[in-house]
Amino acid sequence: MSDVLLSVEGLSLRFAGVRALTDVSFDVRHGQLFSVIGPNGAGKSSLFNCISGVYRPTSGSIRFDGTELVGRAPHRIAKLGIARTFQNVEVFPTMTVLENLLLARHHHMRGGVPAGVLWFGRARREEVAARRAVDRTIDFLGLGDLRHRRVGSLPHGLQKRVELGRTLAMEPKLLLLDEPVAGMNHDETQEMVRAIVRARQELGVAVVLVEHDMGVVMEISQEICVLDFGERIALGAPADVARDEAVLTAYLGGAL
Ligand SMILES: Nc1ncnc2c1ncn2[C@@H]1O[C@H](COP(=O)(O)OP(=O)(O)OP(=O)(O)O)[C@@H](O)[C@H]1O
Ligand SMILES: [Mg+2]
Repeated sequence: MSDVLLSVEGLSLRFAGVRALTDVSFDVRHGQLFSVIGPNGAGKSSLFNCISGVYRPTSGSIRFDGTELVGRAPHRIAKLGIARTFQNVEVFPTMTVLENLLLARHHHMRGGVPAGVLWFGRARREEVAARRAVDRTIDFLGLGDLRHRRVGSLPHGLQKRVELGRTLAMEPKLLLLDEPVAGMNHDETQEMVRAIVRARQELGVAVVLVEHDMGVVMEISQEICVLDFGERIALGAPADVARDEAVLTAYLGGAL
């Protein structure tokens, strides 16, 4: 099926004694907003670490746009068009908003650096393209007035938006967001949700969202995969997942 962008098949990940993921499978389509939920320790971040190449799964396959990701280094996977944010804010607090985005973009282009030094023309073209992409992203996220502010001086919600900006500046096909609204107040959450939805709608980016805020998940997801103790216990549309027996049991006393 050509509309599948990411295909996870039979994914298992074991640490000594811990089964972080067991035989997990799902597909994410181009431009889809797909959420992965589950109680603490269910394996959500581990799944992201497998997709982005930080962890090597014990078995299974992860295909992205027709390419097998298992066994590839994180920077190669990033180059294929997968960008991610982390559960904790990952920004450079002493640098400005602009510098943070430029750095993310440069990281993305690295690998061709020696060549870039030798062939000046190409390096310059890349630099111009980087500045354009970063400027577009800053405008897109409404960060124009803050571009020269040090990120460490901004409130939490804006720091998370800068972090999102760092991923969008890479112009990815797929965005992995690990708890993007964690620790946010109501207004910050609404702003972030709007930015994520617009990234999908206006930039055509597919999003895999890991989030504990069930209100947000139910509102913006097209499909939801539920993990519990590393196993997929449900997969489907928000309305179906919300009344699934196994899901209700896993969340008993929880947020649903
Ligand atoms: N590097 C590691 N070494 C050993 N065990 C790990 C490692 N990373 C994760 N685990 C274990 O794998 C399981 C899944 O952890 P993971 O962080 O993926 O859960 P999560 O769903 O992201 O949880 P949370 O909602 O709390 O962020 C847990 O039992 C965790 O302790
Ligand atoms: Mg996690």
